[in-house]
Amino acid sequence: MLLSGLRLLPLLPLAWVGGVDGRAVDTVAAAKVESRQQQNIVTWDDKSLMINGERLMIFSAEVHPFRLPVTSLWLDVLQKIKAMGYTCVSFYIDWFLLEGKQGEFRAEGIFDLEPFFEAAKQAGLYLLARPGPYINAEVAGGGFPGWLQRVQGRLRTNDAAYLEATANYSANIGRIIAEAQITNGGPVILYQPENEYQSYLEGYEFPDYEYWENVDRQFRDAGIVVPSINNEAHMNAYITTSTPASVDIYGHDSYPLGFDCFNPTVWPEDGLPTDWLELNNQIAPDSPYALVEFQGGGFQPPGGAGFEACSQLLNHEFERVIYKNNYAVGATIFNIYMTFGGTNWGNLGHAEGYSSYDYGAQITEERLVYREKYSEMKLQANFFHVSPAYLVADRFNSSLEWTDNEAITVTPAITDTTKFYIARHTQYDSTETVPYRLKVQTVGFGDLTVPQLSDSLYLTRRDSKIHVSDYLVGDKNLVYSTAEIFTWKKYSDKTVLVVYGGPDEHHELAVEGRGSDDDEVVEGSDVTVEQRDGYTILGWAVSPERKVVRVHGDLYIYLLERNEAYNFWVPPEPAQVGTSSVIVKAGYLIRTVEVDDATLSFVGDVNATTTIEVIGGAPEKLETLNFNGRSLPFEQDERGVVTATVEFRKPRFKLPSCSRLKWKKIDALPELQPDYSDDAWTVADLKETPNTAFPDLRTPTSLYAGDYGYHTRTLIYRGHFTANGGESTFFIQTQGGMAFGSSVWLDDKFIGSFVGDSTWESTNANSTYELPALEKGRQYVFTVVIDNMGLNNNYVIPEEKQKIPRGILDYELEGHPKSDISWKLTGNLGGENYLDKDRGPLNEGGLFIERQGYHLPVAPTKYWDYSKGPTEGLTKPGIVYYATSFDLNLPTGYDIPISFEFVNTTAVAYRAQIFVNGYQFGTYVNHIGPQSRYPVPQGILNYHGTNYLGVTLWAMEEGGAKVEGFEIRVGTVTATGYGNIEMAPTPAWKRREGAY
Ligand code: GAL
Repeated sequence: MLLSGLRLLPLLPLAWVGGVDGRAVDTVAAAKVESRQQQNIVTWDDKSLMINGERLMIFSAEVHPFRLPVTSLWLDVLQKIKAMGYTCVSFYIDWFLLEGKQGEFRAEGIFDLEPFFEAAKQAGLYLLARPGPYINAEVAGGGFPGWLQRVQGRLRTNDAAYLEATANYSANIGRIIAEAQITNGGPVILYQPENEYQSYLEGYEFPDYEYWENVDRQFRDAGIVVPSINNEAHMNAYITTSTPASVDIYGHDSYPLGFDCFNPTVWPEDGLPTDWLELNNQIAPDSPYALVEFQGGGFQPPGGAGFEACSQLLNHEFERVIYKNNYAVGATIFNIYMTFGGTNWGNLGHAEGYSSYDYGAQITEERLVYREKYSEMKLQANFFHVSPAYLVADRFNSSLEWTDNEAITVTPAITDTTKFYIARHTQYDSTETVPYRLKVQTVGFGDLTVPQLSDSLYLTRRDSKIHVSDYLVGDKNLVYSTAEIFTWKKYSDKTVLVVYGGPDEHHELAVEGRGSDDDEVVEGSDVTVEQRDGYTILGWAVSPERKVVRVHGDLYIYLLERNEAYNFWVPPEPAQVGTSSVIVKAGYLIRTVEVDDATLSFVGDVNATTTIEVIGGAPEKLETLNFNGRSLPFEQDERGVVTATVEFRKPRFKLPSCSRLKWKKIDALPELQPDYSDDAWTVADLKETPNTAFPDLRTPTSLYAGDYGYHTRTLIYRGHFTANGGESTFFIQTQGGMAFGSSVWLDDKFIGSFVGDSTWESTNANSTYELPALEKGRQYVFTVVIDNMGLNNNYVIPEEKQKIPRGILDYELEGHPKSDISWKLTGNLGGENYLDKDRGPLNEGGLFIERQGYHLPVAPTKYWDYSKGPTEGLTKPGIVYYATSFDLNLPTGYDIPISFEFVNTTAVAYRAQIFVNGYQFGTYVNHIGPQSRYPVPQGILNYHGTNYLGVTLWAMEEGGAKVEGFEIRVGTVTATGYGNIEMAPTPAWKRREGAY
């Protein structure tokens, strides 16, 4: 099948092509706002978004609240994002989790978005809401609930059955988003319908404007009035600001380095896009340049390189080169996917992923901020807070004219006053150190070639820089700066400017005006100060020794090495969109600051004893300095700079060793026992499948699990037949998605397994098994266990990959017509009538212990057998469940990340699941990987009470399997000022009516 989705269609006639001046655009935008949106708080023009008339850089972080099911931790993540200097968060909503049963929309408890909206407000972040209904996002079904497999219309098309199926969700979630809009005092400023409406099969008429209008209308009818934005995968201009069905703001996504994390130093040859600006000017000259999703890490498949490797591929150097290229292009709506990835807990992921969705992002799955890419982003995002000219600068094509070295490409972004020069390697992935000189324009001094006090600037390894000229710092004009600007603040008595450069680089900064007599190097050495006609130049070689210079009386300039700049923060005040006026050096994390008369109060985290140094914004005569609510001794020098020390005391605590815990165990596959009754199981009696995408059954009745409402994880089939004595083989085709596996037993006898691997060919398996001699006339039963790895995404329209069934596709019992076997099946108890409303529709699979609810706290383990736990293992194929409980009493005031790790050296085929207080927080496939360590957040784990831990072990091969080691691990511990973390609901086990 040919995909036509990547073709660039001829562009449609555009309404506002050609250089429209700023004012005209304003009028156009205002008119659009009135006619289409009944609101005038969020407006835009070709340059940027405006909130209440004020331009704002939308520096946005993608976060999926559903990937962190502890609502009281959402503020933690958002504060860490805000502390980097972001202004916005973009979030998907996963329909599957909210309407597991058709018609029953449920967004409560951990699925309630209200705490997320509150957290955004408290952190001071705007929100871009992305409700789908289709989201992709590496979630099961791309967000489509399992029951859509049975919908009698093509997914993501204008077919009435599909649209009707979306109506309940769209109305409900639309209302929830609508209520949280800025027009109602909430944080939501933008909304994106659909996602990457883009790839289609040849022959399908695309785009379908009516479909788009209908999706948008459903949300508009629910009350959404903020501007809509598109997220095209490529700039194909299918739905733009001027197409028959349109969006308010055009945008697209991009993942330029791809996802090959096995080779984390290799950047693809054509990885740097250079034509975006021109394209955007053609496609949507009336809307700001929007990168609605831009690569912040990478997803990973089973058997992949893992997320640490992705964090290396998509590291700080990637951010420097590629993100700065986005600024060169003029992105003023810039969303990084993912900034915090989280966890595919409870089967919410799709088959081509695994439990961790760390993504190699700026914030780790454990919510830690130690990756250098986090610090690098802080430097970049903060720059935009103090450089408003960026939002209105005109872009020009990159050109050599600005430099003397063709190995360097410079893109200017220019206003009447401030100018930015974004310099990069012409060969974008070069790791060379390259010298260059730069031409800058100045209003007062004409064109200057810099540096003036040395031969060259340098790009060292993979790097890119934003140089500036005519850059206003309060009432001072920087004639130019080759050093990059982190931040500056003007106070009543002084102005503080912080700039940085890479190790050993030469930098220069020139301030307009004549130097004054008390100009001095306040700290450090080796700064050359030269007076030129009308300006003062500072020149220095960047070194770990920091330099502080006072020029023109009251301008203090901090000249930092980049690594030191990483330790500086411009913390926000609570609930403020901007930053505060405080600049502080403080190590690991500063969340917020409050200045109240003579009191300065910081909230932050430290992982070592940390000196804090407030270089600007402290009260003139500080009386009290608080850190996390505790008053600290401090000193304040004559310049007003405050220093103090925050002691980090290593917390003392004990964690249990899993091998020493008292474990109980229970057979998790009692189906193999001769007296097992499957009377209560679902009879597979559908002679036809409702699955319109895969209508041709190869079995007398449908054995697609989704046809019977089973969509999550383990599926079990029971096939009864009467033997004729001549059977010697059994063929079966099972399907469970990438890296799936299946095992077959005849009565209690193991017949064989398809253990699975991570290739595309192995998303289903044809297995032919030898049978033992069967007794003629005797009743037998096959028990088939299948690991459903999660429904597929539904990327290509109308391919309907979400409908790819799970279960048994075909079978052949030698010497029998297929109809000789009568089948029953089960998945999670109740199927779409799922029982555990608190943990949602996907958390449970179809294992006996899950159907009984034994994965829930206080399961009736009393009569179960004692066991050593998962390390005891099985000596033959089968499934066993181990359960234990342990108390934690961890010190408060610390963030102590806990994870569970499988330690294994053999490639024996087995699969395991981890349940913590009833939440499935890990699926482990020993012979495929790559994940072996499973973080579980506080709030799922009870840090001050009893925890119930369960592990299922499915031994897939003769000889059985045991877990060699299973241990609790601790990540980087920080002392934190973050408040209370409330437990997610952990309702306990209750006898389940009708459980089998
Ligand atoms: C994008 C898509 C996202 C996510 C991402 C990869 O194309 O819009 O939903 O799937 O790719 O992580």
